[in-house]
Amino acid sequence: MNTKPTQSESVLKYQQLRVVIVGHVDHGKSTLIGRLLYDTDSLPAGKAEEIEKVSARRGAESIEWSFVLDAFQAERDQAVTIDTTQIWFSTALRDYVIIDAPGHREFLKNMVSGAAAADAAILVVDAAEGVQEQTRRHAYLLHLLGLRQVAVVINKMDSQGYDAERFNEVAKDVVSYLQSIGMTPQHIVPLSARHGDMMAGRGDHMDWYQGKTLVEILDSFEVAAPPVARALRFAVQDVYRQDESRIIVGRVETGIIRKGDTVCFSPAGEKAKVTSIAVWPPQDDKVEARAGEAVGITLDQKIFVERGHIGSHEKNMPMLSNVLRANIFWLGHEPLAVGNSYKIRYATHEAMVTVQSIDRVIDTQDLAQDEDGAAVERNAVAEVTLRARHMLPIDPYIDNFRTGRVVLYDGYDIVGGGTVNMEGYADQRRMMKPVSDNIYAVTHLTSYPERVRRQGHHGGVFWFTGLSGAGKSTLGMLVEKQLFEKGYNTYVLDGDNVRHGLCADLGFSPEDRAENIRRVGEVAALQADAGLITITAFISPYQDDRDRARAAAPDRFHEIFVKADLRTCEKRDPKGLYKKARDGKIPEFTGIDSPYEPPQNPELVVDTEKNDIELCVRQIVSYIEQQVTEGVTKKAEAKDKDKALAV
Ligand code: ADX
Repeated sequence: MNTKPTQSESVLKYQQLRVVIVGHVDHGKSTLIGRLLYDTDSLPAGKAEEIEKVSARRGAESIEWSFVLDAFQAERDQAVTIDTTQIWFSTALRDYVIIDAPGHREFLKNMVSGAAAADAAILVVDAAEGVQEQTRRHAYLLHLLGLRQVAVVINKMDSQGYDAERFNEVAKDVVSYLQSIGMTPQHIVPLSARHGDMMAGRGDHMDWYQGKTLVEILDSFEVAAPPVARALRFAVQDVYRQDESRIIVGRVETGIIRKGDTVCFSPAGEKAKVTSIAVWPPQDDKVEARAGEAVGITLDQKIFVERGHIGSHEKNMPMLSNVLRANIFWLGHEPLAVGNSYKIRYATHEAMVTVQSIDRVIDTQDLAQDEDGAAVERNAVAEVTLRARHMLPIDPYIDNFRTGRVVLYDGYDIVGGGTVNMEGYADQRRMMKPVSDNIYAVTHLTSYPERVRRQGHHGGVFWFTGLSGAGKSTLGMLVEKQLFEKGYNTYVLDGDNVRHGLCADLGFSPEDRAENIRRVGEVAALQADAGLITITAFISPYQDDRDRARAAAPDRFHEIFVKADLRTCEKRDPKGLYKKARDGKIPEFTGIDSPYEPPQNPELVVDTEKNDIELCVRQIVSYIEQQVTEGVTKKAEAKDKDKALAV
C-alpha cells in the first residue's frame, strides 16, 4: 500500500477542519470525543493509560472515554476560565478542531454568536432513544446557521445488538425530520463510541453497513474556503491617528480590498480611495488584503469613518435600512417580546433595535408555526421584525454569510442569534441624497402664510394608509367632495390613479413601493405648500416609507389609518384582486405574500369594519377641518362678510 500522501493530501494536511458535535446531552457526545481522540492517536502521551486506570478504579466495565473530557476539563479549571474549548485531533489527512464549551448553554451561545463557526457538524443520536426534542432543536439550529456538512451518528449501536433494523428505523426518523426543515444529511453512520465500531476502524459487528466510517466521513468534508469571491465587506474596528494620517483598522470579512480601490463606508456613505494597506509585521509591497485578513488602510481623503462602518465597493454596497427581519434562535431567560429593545451586533456594527413584530414562532419539535406569537420563549426559533432608530448597513444572509449573521444582546448577555432575511424590505439607500451636488433652492415671492390668508385655511397632507379594500379611495373621494362643497381647496392623490401616470413605471416590489410613496410624498408636500388639503389614498405598507413622506411635510402631515383586517378586506374584494392573489396570479400582494405594517402612532384611526361609511367620512372631515382652520381667522371673517352682505 502506498502510504505517502499525494500532493493534494499534503496541502490538506495544513488545513484545519472545524467541527461541532451536537445532539441530546445523554446521547454520548463526550464518549464520542474521547474515543475519537484515542482512535486517531491524538491523546497526549500517557493519557490513555491514565483513563484506563481511572475507569478501572471507578469500577467501569470498559474504558470510559468520556473521562478524557473530564480530564481536560480538570486541567482547564486550573488555568483561566475560557468560554470556548478547542480540542484537537488529526487523521492521516489533516488536522481537526472540535469546538466545544464547558456547559450546554455556553455551547449554544457560542453557536449563535459565531464563536463556534464550524465547517462541519456531527449530530449524535442514541440508537435506543432515537430522535429527541434536543436532537430536533440542535438540527434546526444547524439549519438556521447554514451548516451544510452534517454527519449523523446513530450511537450506542452496541446497546441494540448492532441491529441493522433498529439502525434503519432511527435513521429514517432523523432523515425525515431533517428533510422537513430542508436539510439533506450526506452521511448516516451506525456507531459504537464505547467500543469504537465505525469510528476509525469498522469493527466486527456491522458488516451490513457499507458506508464510510466516521473518520472517513470527516475526511470527505471540505474546509470552507475564505469567501474572497464575495462582495467586499471591510468591517471597521477602529480609526487610529498617526501624525497627519489616519489608519482605518478592520477586518476583511469577505472579498478583496486593493490599493487604489474606491471604498464607500456605510451607513454614512462617504467614499475615498485606498492609498495604502498596512499589516503587521510591516510589508512594503502590500497591495491587497483578502477575506479573513485584519489590516489597516489609509485613504486619500478625510472622510467620516468610525467603528462599525462597513466598507464596500460602490458597485456592491450593503443595503441600508432601519428595519430588518431576522430568524432568531432565542436563548434569553426572559422571553423576547414586542416592544423590547436589544443590542444587535454583526461584524463590528452595533445598534439598538426594538422588536416591532414577532412574525412567526417555530416550534422546532413539530415545526408548527404560530403566526400570532406574542413572545418567544427560551430555546424557540422565531422570525421577527426589528427596527432601529438609524439606518443600518445590512446584508441578507443569502448574500453574505458573515455580515448576514446577527447576535442579540440584553446588556452584556447574549440572548439570541440568527440570520438576516430582507425579503419584503427595500434598500433605502437611494432615498438619502440628491444625485447632483450642483443644485440650489430658489425662494418663492409669494409665501405660504399669504396663500393661507387668502383662501382661509391651511394646506395639509392627510395620508390614508390601510390594506387594499379597506376603503381608502372610497373615503378619500367622499371627503374630498364634502370639503370642496364647504369651500375648501382639496385634491385626492389616489394609488390606482397615480400609477397610471406619475408612477406608471413602478410595480409592487418593496423598492418600487418605496419609490411610489417617495414620489407621492413629495408631490403631496408640494400641494400642501401650495395650500391644498391633500388627501392621499395609498396602501403604503411600510412605516419607513410613510415616515419619509411625513418628513417631506413635517408640520402638515397627518397619518390616518383606514382600519379593516385582512379577512374583511378579502371578503369585500372590490376588484377581485385578493382572489387572484390567492390563486397565485398576483405576486407580492399586500396582506397575502407581502407585509403590511400598521401605523404605530397614527393621528387618526377610522375603523371601516365597525363603523359605516357616513360615520367614517364625518370623523375625517371633522378632523381635517379642525386641523386646517386652527389659528386661521380669515375664513371666519370671510363668512361674516358673506352674512353681512346677505342681510
Ligand atoms: S403601494 O403599496 O405602493 O402603496 P398603491 O396604493 O400605490 O400601493 O396601489 C395599490 C393598488 O394597486 C391596490 O389597491 C390594487 O388595486 C393594486 N394592486 C395591484 N397589484 C398589487 C399588489 N401586488 N399589492 C397591492 N396592490 C396591488
